[in-house]
Amino acid sequence: MTDGNANQMWGGRFQMSPAEIMEQINSSIDFDKRMAREDIVGSKVHAAMLAATGIITDGDREAIDKGLDQVLGEVEAGSFKYSRALEDVHMNIEARLKELIGEPAGRLHTARSRNDQVATDFRLYIRGQLDLFDRALAGLQLALARKAETHASTVMPGFTHLQPAQPVTFGHHLLAYVEMFGRDRGRLQDARQRLNECPLGSAALAGTSFPIDREQTARELGFDRPTANSLDSVSDRDFVLETLAAATICAVHLSRLSEEIVLWVTPQFGFLTLSDRFTTGSSIMPQKRNPDAAELCRAKVGRISGALQSLVLIMKGLPLAYSKDMQEDKEVAFDALDSLRLAVSAATGMVEDMQPVPEAMRRAAGYGYSTATDLADWLVRELKMPFREAHHVTGSIVALAEKHGTDLNELPLQAMQAVEARITEGIFSVLSVENSVSSRMSYGGTAPHNVHKMAAKWVGELEIALKNV
Ligand code: ARG
Repeated sequence: MTDGNANQMWGGRFQMSPAEIMEQINSSIDFDKRMAREDIVGSKVHAAMLAATGIITDGDREAIDKGLDQVLGEVEAGSFKYSRALEDVHMNIEARLKELIGEPAGRLHTARSRNDQVATDFRLYIRGQLDLFDRALAGLQLALARKAETHASTVMPGFTHLQPAQPVTFGHHLLAYVEMFGRDRGRLQDARQRLNECPLGSAALAGTSFPIDREQTARELGFDRPTANSLDSVSDRDFVLETLAAATICAVHLSRLSEEIVLWVTPQFGFLTLSDRFTTGSSIMPQKRNPDAAELCRAKVGRISGALQSLVLIMKGLPLAYSKDMQEDKEVAFDALDSLRLAVSAATGMVEDMQPVPEAMRRAAGYGYSTATDLADWLVRELKMPFREAHHVTGSIVALAEKHGTDLNELPLQAMQAVEARITEGIFSVLSVENSVSSRMSYGGTAPHNVHKMAAKWVGELEIALKNV
């Protein structure tokens, strides 16, 4: 039975139109239309190569090229009419090209398949995203490094187990995130480097009998070289997996930064304030100022790592070469990268917006006997005591201070001497938080001098990097 509505791309073999549910599950146009620009650019380069190798005529190439420019214009103007019946972005564009230029449009698909086409389009799309992320993350690093430079000597408590551990500087703490986002950029750059091979010309899975020039298409699309195995080319989605893995790690970092912002703007900590621009109020509690942006940034890692898990499971056990399962790669990747983009922008905005409260940080830096390690180090240095013994002696002095209800530097000398007779007045020079931080001069340590130098180095490098992109 023929219903006369068979697909125009493969109507030769088919007589009936697909079931409605078939069209629904099969169609990807609602999401892959995002790759329209990449698809058109890929087609233009493919047509140029077909003409250069004599596979199509120059006349056909010109018609195709002009037609594709018009389609691109429609896409960019938002007037392009996407059709679900045409399944995906590749067939939508080709069908429109046929409407516009007629017969030559039918020659564009020579020596290619949607399998190598989608692999090429998606690589181009992801590559563009990776470049955007490099810049966005450099912007976030710069915001952090500038704040770190300003607050190179602002003292705050450093924590382990979220218990006061040793005093550090706020600048030092911010620079820890600069390092993290620097590694994220490195991972994304690695992914980009491995991604940058061109699958176009692998055709459906086996290559083609036409005398194509894959070097030419690879070069013109900005790839380093063509991919080396046609089966791998159309079945590989490592470039998406790697990007999502790097995105997930980056989102983990954003969630840690966000969590600290959430904690630190609470009245209990009071280390930071965020302005009205990055907070919301409550519809019932008039006093509230909620750090919603930070909370949402903290949450984004859920869907980003979810996308990675999805794609790992989609790809697992797929036989070579292409399977339609792989069409499920896009929605999750688009969503993850959209989420990451938003989170990076919001984090950058919050870092620029946030104001530390140095008095609150300074006060808290003194809590919890945070200079006890400095006391132990003094015993080692001045009395040549083995560190293990110094640790024990210091522990007894802390217990004493606890009993007296005082800080370490408020404990009378005699009280300390009751624990260790050789302790002198000199001990007090190491018990203040300022002395504690400025003594941490080891490379990578929290001393303000170090932090200032490191922050200035980052600011200089990042400003140049952002100018050059
Ligand atoms: N829309 C498809 C995808 O995203 C394009 C490739 C279709 N290939 C095929 N042989 N049906 O994977």
